[in-house]
Amino acid sequence: MLPAGGIFTGSDAVRFMEMGASGVQVATRFTVTRECGLPDDVKQEYFKANEDDIEVNTISPTGYPMRMLKSSPCIGDGIRPNCEACGYLLDANGKCAYITAYNRELAAHPGEKRISVKDKTCLCTQMRNFDIWTCGQLAWRLKDTSVRRSDGSFQLLSAAHVFEDYQYSTEGQLRLPEAEVATA
Ligand SMILES: Cc1cc2nc3c(=O)[nH]c(=O)nc-3n(C[C@H](O)[C@H](O)[C@H](O)COP(=O)(O)O)c2cc1C
Repeated sequence: MLPAGGIFTGSDAVRFMEMGASGVQVATRFTVTRECGLPDDVKQEYFKANEDDIEVNTISPTGYPMRMLKSSPCIGDGIRPNCEACGYLLDANGKCAYITAYNRELAAHPGEKRISVKDKTCLCTQMRNFDIWTCGQLAWRLKDTSVRRSDGSFQLLSAAHVFEDYQYSTEGQLRLPEAEVATA
């Protein structure tokens, strides 16, 4: 058994291991580590998120629900489908639910420079541009896993720090870093 979802501390992990899990799967805590490829300003959006800043929606053209920050730039964006460059999601007939939605909006708003597509998103391009800010249900706990610097931003930890925290933290405690002096 490999549990996943909302495992934010070593103590959370130990609880599952004691129930017989062979390991745990963790995602969200690593999205805000230094090594994660997300732009740093996006990592700060993850840290700042509160419970009501997170939603599960159905804008993925695949039909699967996705959980993301409501501030994700992809939501309601009407970017032109970029299938020449990516097109990973095109079916055998060259179709994608986003293209259908985009063409519908284009026809409904002829001549408009920037249309908005609310029900679907261009997963290929928006993912590549880091504009889909997917997260776990408990992403709002991230702010308690780091320290806030004097400029209001959160300190990024190394993946090794987070990993050791999972290995050695007890009783729900996190091994918080020393606050760095914020540089302009
Ligand atoms: C940014 C991000 C990327 C993810 N990528 C994968 C993936 O490639 N494969 C997978 O099986 N699950 C992936 N997941 C899903 C997580 O493994 C799964 O949601 C798990 O519940 C993580 O919970 P947590 O984010 O609360 O730790 C991803 C989740 C996030 C937030």
